[in-house]
Amino acid sequence: MTQKNCYILGIESSCDDTAAAVINNGEILSNVVATQAIHEQYGGVVPELASRAHQQNIVPVVHQALQKANIDKNQLSAIAFTRGPGLMGSLLVGTSFSKSLALGLGIPLIDVNHMQAHILAHFIKAEGQNAPNFPFLAMTISGGHTQIVKVTDYFEMEIIGQTIDDAVGEAFDKSAKILGLPYPGGPLVDKYAQKGNPKAFKFPKPKVNPMDFSFSGLKTSVLYFVEKEVAQNPDFISENIEDICASLQFTIVDYLMDKLKNAVKKTGIKEIAIGGGVSANSGIRNALKEAETKYGWKTHIPKFEFCTDNAAMIAIVGELKYKTQNFAENNVVASARMKF
Ligand code: KG4
Ligand code: ZN
Repeated sequence: MTQKNCYILGIESSCDDTAAAVINNGEILSNVVATQAIHEQYGGVVPELASRAHQQNIVPVVHQALQKANIDKNQLSAIAFTRGPGLMGSLLVGTSFSKSLALGLGIPLIDVNHMQAHILAHFIKAEGQNAPNFPFLAMTISGGHTQIVKVTDYFEMEIIGQTIDDAVGEAFDKSAKILGLPYPGGPLVDKYAQKGNPKAFKFPKPKVNPMDFSFSGLKTSVLYFVEKEVAQNPDFISENIEDICASLQFTIVDYLMDKLKNAVKKTGIKEIAIGGGVSANSGIRNALKEAETKYGWKTHIPKFEFCTDNAAMIAIVGELKYKTQNFAENNVVASARMKF
């Protein structure tokens, strides 16, 4: 099979987004995501509800991805799916579906690590995206993970720094919840932050190892700060939401940049790529662009649709593995704590 007529279906179901995408020769032909609104009212993802919603969504989402790509399922060369890490109930839906479809169509099955996919999304051919050169540093910042990874080849990755408690997306979401914002709060904090003064309030930056992260203290300091201010002025949050969000975002972004600077110093690698939902954040995107002139870094920021959970990133990993016939056995199982 030549690369030209190799069509790979990617399926993602690790958390609360059911997604399917078709890739052909590095280009994404369709990228469909069904986001689950049900979790908003609970202020966070409810695993049991997520897995039930995946069951409802997966057939229509895959159908739509094939339709948009204008191909029939019999033209597919392989099926790539997220094996982990993620919520077990959610992963099981995508895994079982993918196994059955691959078996039914008689085509190979390819298992994908979700965190590697966030990094390898940079190799999707799309306008405005330039693939990084090896070796590069990847900072994966999402609702479930915060890592700095040294990438020496497509599948040669070493975690050189990570969070010791909450993920950065959780820091955004939990702080947003304290401010009365709905889940997921990250994008809303970003929206308000763009109109506020980042120096209005000061939040502490937790001290841990130079390339590791800690976010649980930040959330607590936001809570104490808000409680203290609201005791004096019940309208404090609504009157200052833009400045609070700007100050919070400034602290988080500055902290992420400190860690990247430490990693660059330690490894000597100045090519940086970011991935994961929080890489949609305007603050980190701007800070990285600035770092190009300020520190001489070469930075790679994914397109918005490849930042938050999506299946295009699963499909590109599928294609990379397909080239070396790196297939999964049909008895492969989902892995909630899958490592690189
Ligand atoms: O990668 P992702 O879609 O799912 C996980 O694998 O976790 O990341 C979701 C996280 C959420 O915490 C969400 O609030 C955050 O990414 N996020 C943002 C922004 N867009 C999404 N955080 C800050 N600013 C944003 N613009
Ligand atoms: Zn993710």
